[in-house]
Amino acid sequence: MVALRFDGKVAIVTGAGGGLGRTYALELAKRGCKVVVNDLGGDRHGSSSSTSMADKVVGEIKAAGGVAVANYNSVEEGEKIVKTAIDNFGRIDIVINNAGILRDISFINMKELDWDLIFRVHVKGAYSVTKAAWPYMRDQKYGRIIVTSSNAAVYGNFGQTNYSAAKHALIGFAKALALEGAKYNILANALIPTAGSRLTATTMPQELVDALKPEYVTPLTVFMCHDSFQETGGLFEAGAGWYGQLQYYRSEGKHLPGATVETLHDNWAKITDMTKARYMPSIKEQTGELLEMLSAAPADSSSGGSGGSGDFPSNIQSSALFKEIQDGIKTDPSVVAKVKQIFVYVITDNAGKELGKFTLDFKSATPSVYVGDSTTGAAAVTVTVSDETFMNLAAGKENPQKAFMSGKIKAKGNIMLLQKLQTILDAQKKAKL
Ligand code: NAI
Repeated sequence: MVALRFDGKVAIVTGAGGGLGRTYALELAKRGCKVVVNDLGGDRHGSSSSTSMADKVVGEIKAAGGVAVANYNSVEEGEKIVKTAIDNFGRIDIVINNAGILRDISFINMKELDWDLIFRVHVKGAYSVTKAAWPYMRDQKYGRIIVTSSNAAVYGNFGQTNYSAAKHALIGFAKALALEGAKYNILANALIPTAGSRLTATTMPQELVDALKPEYVTPLTVFMCHDSFQETGGLFEAGAGWYGQLQYYRSEGKHLPGATVETLHDNWAKITDMTKARYMPSIKEQTGELLEMLSAAPADSSSGGSGGSGDFPSNIQSSALFKEIQDGIKTDPSVVAKVKQIFVYVITDNAGKELGKFTLDFKSATPSVYVGDSTTGAAAVTVTVSDETFMNLAAGKENPQKAFMSGKIKAKGNIMLLQKLQTILDAQKKAKL
C-alpha cells in the first residue's frame, strides 16, 4: 500500500489544541504536512483563552520531527490564522474547520448569548477562516476544505437547538462551496465525527468517552484532505472505527396539480412514502424534475384528485367517457375499492396512431381518472384501443370479448383485471341509469 503523504502541503487545523483537532494536526505532520495549530485555548463553553493548548501540540509535532506553528486567534479572525500560514509557510492548501464549543441548554432557558456564541464559533468561524484561505486556493487551483458537522445536525439533540442549527448550516456551507470550488480544484466536504473529548464528556458516560478514541476519526479526516480524495460536497461519518457516508433521500412524492389542503390530507401517506426514495445528487436534478412536472399535463384545478390531470381532450370522443368515470368515482369512490390497481388506456385513431392516454388510478387513497400516463406508479394493465371501438364498447355495440379476440383491444399486463374493471364500469353505468 502506498503511503499517502502531504509533502509540500500546508494545513490549518482550527481548534487543534486538544480533542479531535490535535490528532489531525499530529497525523498530518507525521505525513509531511506543515501545520498551523490554531487554538484559542479557552474552556468548552467559549470563555477565556490561553496559548498553552496550541503550544503543547506544536511541541509534540516538533518532538516527532514534524513542522508546525501555533496560532492563538479565535476562528472568527480567519485573516490572522491564514496570515500565520502564509507568513510561515508561504501557502495554504488545507483547512480543517474543527474548532468548537458547546452551550447546551433547553430552548426555554436559552439566552441570546448561547445562540450567538455557537453561531460565532462554528458558522462564522468556518466562514472566516475559509474566506481568508479561498483566494489563495483559487489562485493555486488547489484546496481541500473540511467542515465539522455533527449528528445533532442530522437528528437534532435535546438541549442543543443552537448547536444542531449551526452544525446543519455547515453542511449547506460545504455543499455550496463544493459547487463554487469545482472549477478551481477546491474540494469541500463535511464530516460527522463521534469521539470522546472534553466536549462530549458532559453528554457521554466516562466509559464511552474513553472507548470512542478521537484516533478512530483521524484517518478519515486526513484522507479527506489528501490529493487522492476526489469527493466534494459530501457528508462522511466516522466513529468507533466505523466509516460511512450520509446522504439526503427524497420520497418519490406525488404530482398533484391543483391540490387543495384536503388533497394533501388524503394523499399524505403516498407523499411521504419513503419506500421508493431516491438520492438527488444536485439541485439541478431536483429542480429539473419539478420543471418536468410543470411541463407535463396542464393543471386542472377542478379535479382536486390525485395524479396529473389535464383537460380531457375534445378531439378524442372517449374523453367524455373517461370524464364520466372520473365524475362517478368522485361521487362514490367506494365502487373502485375492489380493484386497487392502475389502468392506462392508449386511445388511437383507426390507423393505430396514438391520440392520447388516460390513467385510471384506483390504487391511490383518492382514486382518480386523468389525462396522460400514470404519474403514481406502473400500470397493472395497459390497454390500447381505437377511439371508435372504445365508444362502441361503451354503447354496447361491440362485445368486449370479441373485440379482444379479434385484436381490436390490445392489453399488456394482468389482463384478468380487465374483467374486474368491466364489472365496475357496468355497475357505474347501471347506477347512472
Ligand atoms: P474539543 O473541545 O476537544 O476541541 C475543540 C477545540 O476547539 C478546543 O481545543 C477549543 O479550545 C477550540 N476552540 C474553541 N473555540 C475556539 C475558537 N473560537 N477559536 C479557536 N479554537 C477554538 O472538542 P472535540 O470533540 O475535539 O470537537 C472538535 C469538533 O468536532 C467540534 O467542532 C465539535 O463540535 C465537533 N464534533 C465533535 C463530536 C464528538 O463526538 N467529539 C461530535 C460531533 C461534532
